[in-house]
Formats: sequence, C-alpha cells, structure tokens
Amino acid sequence: MSVLLQPPFVLGLPTETVYGLAARIDEPRGIEAIFKIKERPFFDPLIVHISQFAQLQLVVSCWPQAAQVLVDKFWPGPLTLVLPKHPNLNPMITSGLNTVGVRWPKHPLALQIIDEEGVPLAAPSANKFGRTSPTTAEHVRQEFGSSLPVRDGGPCAVGLESTVLRIEQDESSVVLSLLRPGSVTREQIESCLDQANVKNIQWRREHERSLAPGQMKHHYMPKIPLVLVETRGLSQDQVLDQLESRFQELPKEIDHVEIRRPQFPIQSVFEIKLSQEPQLAAREFYSRLREASESNAEILLFYKSEIHQGVDWLALWDRLTKAASLRV
Ligand code: TXA
Ligand code: MG
Repeated sequence: MSVLLQPPFVLGLPTETVYGLAARIDEPRGIEAIFKIKERPFFDPLIVHISQFAQLQLVVSCWPQAAQVLVDKFWPGPLTLVLPKHPNLNPMITSGLNTVGVRWPKHPLALQIIDEEGVPLAAPSANKFGRTSPTTAEHVRQEFGSSLPVRDGGPCAVGLESTVLRIEQDESSVVLSLLRPGSVTREQIESCLDQANVKNIQWRREHERSLAPGQMKHHYMPKIPLVLVETRGLSQDQVLDQLESRFQELPKEIDHVEIRRPQFPIQSVFEIKLSQEPQLAAREFYSRLREASESNAEILLFYKSEIHQGVDWLALWDRLTKAASLRV
C-alpha cells in the first residue's frame, strides 16, 4: 500500500550509501516537498531509484549497451547513471535538464518501499542543502525533526553517496563523464567495459564538461571549520599558528551555511580520525563529522597521511576537501 500518495508525500529511507528523502516520481506534491524541506535550489536535480528493470521505461528515453554492461555488474549498488530522460518524467526532478540520474539501490528496505509504491522514487540525500549527508535514521531525525516519517534500516554500509557517471553513446563511441566519485571507481568502470568488449571509450576531462549541478566547490560543511592538514610533519601547535596567521581566509559563511569562526588562542581542537581501511573510513566519515560538529571544539582537524593515496581513497578525499574550510 502506498504511503507516499498521502501527506507529507515524502519519507526518509535507508539506502546502502546514505539515507534518502524520497517521493514518488508521479506525485508532484512530494517532489516539491523534497526541495522545500531540504532548502535545495531547483537547479540541482534528483536521482531516481528503481527496484526492477521494467521501471526504466518510465525514467530514461534510451538505454545504451554500455549502460547495460555496467548495471549487470554494479546494480543493485552505488552507481548512478546519467542518461537522456523520458519525455514524461516530471522536469522538476531533472531541474529542466534533458538527462536524468538513475540507480537501483542495494538495501532491502529501500527496495521493499519502492516495490510497495509500485513506481520509482526520486530521492536526494536526506540532509539540508550543502550539509553533511545522513548515514543513520537518527541523523535524518536530527536534520528534519520528528514530523518527517523515517524508516530505520540501520547504519549505511557504504557511507558515501553513489558514483555519478554520465554516458553518451552513439554508433562509433562511448563518452563517459565522472560527475561525482564514489565507491565504484573509474578503474572498475573501465575494466568492466573492457571485459565486455565495449570499444572506443573516451573520458571527458574535467574542463570539458560542466559538473553535476549539485557538485559545488563546497559541500558537506560542518558548522565548525574543518582544516585539512596536508603538509607532512606539522605539529598541532604549528597548525594552529598557521591558522592564526591565515585567519582572514576562514569563511564566515559558504553557500548560506554559517561557519563558526574560532577565537584565538584556540583552546579546543577535535581531531577527526578514521579507519586506515578506505571502505571502513567511508562508512565512518559522515558520523564522525557530525559528532565533531556537535562537540565544543572550535576547530576540527584532519591529518592527511601516506595511507590516503590511491583510487580507493578518491571518493572520501573528494568529500573531505569539499567539507574543509581551509587546507594547510
Ligand atoms: O547515493 C546516492 O546517490 C544518494 C542516495 C540517497 O541514493 N543520493 C544522493 O542524491 O546523493 P543527491 O541529490 O544528494 O546527489 C545527487 C547528485 C547531485 O550532485 C546532482 O547534481 C547529480 O547527482 N545529478 C542528478 N541528476 C543529474 C543529471 N541529470 N545530470 C547531472 N547530475 C545529476
Ligand atoms: Mg546530497
């Protein structure tokens, strides 16, 4: 039985990546409510979630071979494909673009809810625009209060949002754009297409493509400034000295997100520590960022070390740099 055809027309639900704020693609009141509740600008399109292949007919207007090859391997899972949209799909979902992002999530409760509704669900991450994504039902309640219904499916196994990949395929070539890095890496995508003998693959370089509309320079920002320490061998005192001399560079607000500026000398520092294993670190990251933001610290520090190199760290590094107010 549908719950999303009744007020408030939206529902917080778990996926394997992060919690989503979902509405039926055929219920405009729900789609509008998503933008309103999230305080999300209308130029930032939503991802559509399906639970069976037949639902693609409602979402996309073409389905290239490269897409099929990739989803055979990565669906259900954290890979969103951006493809030409179906003409009848509500343009508010796609922010007026002629493409749509679609994925088949890998969480039994998400799939059960899509099946119960019997239509695909549009769902962004269940956080206010620009803020840290939620990886537990409790995070969603903290963000939106108890009036929003949330289904609890436990902590998210992946912990970072899906990889977003745009595919443009014609008779002679397949052009790919990695719009957002995630746990499905560019190397895995390439090797999957290669094994299936898909030829003539090209990657659009960053400067040749416009980014995903929601991928601004800053995102996932905690209220307390996060400083990324990339220079090796700096002691905490040296970091704080640098910070004091570069105080003017600390923003007061970014994209309408207020950042609390510290008083010098800084008394209280919170160092964010993550597991050394990239999958575990990804799973922990947003929770740690939230805990840190709720502490009494004046500044958050994350030390980059030699273990944070390589393709498996790229998605986490993307989120860390977007969440950071300063890099030293
Ligand atoms: O893992 C995920 O993808 C989570 C869960 C809930 O599925 N969803 C999620 O949605 O992260 P959201 O709205 O927070 O991020 C979606 C990103 C945005 O940066 C958006 O701009 C981009 O995907 N996107 C969606 N449709 C697009 C399109 N047609 N073209 C380019 N980028 C698109
Ligand atoms: Mg988001």
